[in-house]
Amino acid sequence: MNIAWGITGAGHLLKESYEVFKTLAQKHQITTFVSRAGEEVLRMYGLLDKLGEISNGEYLREIIFEREAGASAPKAGRFLLKKYDALVVSPATSNTVAKIVRGIADSLITNVVAQANKSETPVYIVPVDLSGEMKSPLPYHIDRELCKKCDACPPKDACPEHAISDQIDLLKCTGCGICIDLCPYDAIKGGNVRLKVRDVDARNIEELRSMDGITVLEHPSGILTVL
Ligand SMILES: Cc1cc2nc3c(=O)[nH]c(=O)nc-3n(C[C@H](O)[C@H](O)[C@H](O)COP(=O)(O)O)c2cc1C
Repeated sequence: MNIAWGITGAGHLLKESYEVFKTLAQKHQITTFVSRAGEEVLRMYGLLDKLGEISNGEYLREIIFEREAGASAPKAGRFLLKKYDALVVSPATSNTVAKIVRGIADSLITNVVAQANKSETPVYIVPVDLSGEMKSPLPYHIDRELCKKCDACPPKDACPEHAISDQIDLLKCTGCGICIDLCPYDAIKGGNVRLKVRDVDARNIEELRSMDGITVLEHPSGILTVL
């Protein structure tokens, strides 16, 4: 099968999505489409470099980044040429879901969803903000109440990306985790955060469920059942 995988800028279910696609890549060709926010968030969670294990750059195994894809994203036209058997968007942010249910196609991922629908390519979407409360992983950050602002800061000196000052620059951090054990005050944290799903996001997902050509999956593991 030729599968298209859309990644948006959600930390939630990102690692789980990556694991599923790593499994699928053993049998199928996967083209990865990555939103601008998706690229940043993949880097923060240490997954950007690993994407090469899934999409090695050959035709239909490329990584297509939104920042390089152009405003009209001509590569989305591949769907109209019937190059893909399925499109999976996992994880899908609330932002991307909101646009899809309104018929907006002004970003890479919303555009590929629109082209997939127009070419009657099946679309599977794993939205992150389903309902109620959820627990989401955090990228590395400094607990400013624990940080003693030491003159010599071992995490800062060791960071290969020079991402650490009095805080971690998440646009530079690659999530490698080298810093975690180096702070004598345990001021560098990862962990999880609890958050409430907004009503508007839950309503949008209900609308998404009713759209023709789109199947909503509750978890990335569901992809292995449908493909
Ligand atoms: C570390 C981090 C994690 C995020 N996780 C989520 C998330 O789980 N769900 C979500 O809807 N947005 C999340 N966002 C916010 C989105 O990245 C943001 O809304 C972005 O505009 C989405 O763009 P996209 O839909 O084009 O990818 C996160 C942002 C950051 C910095």
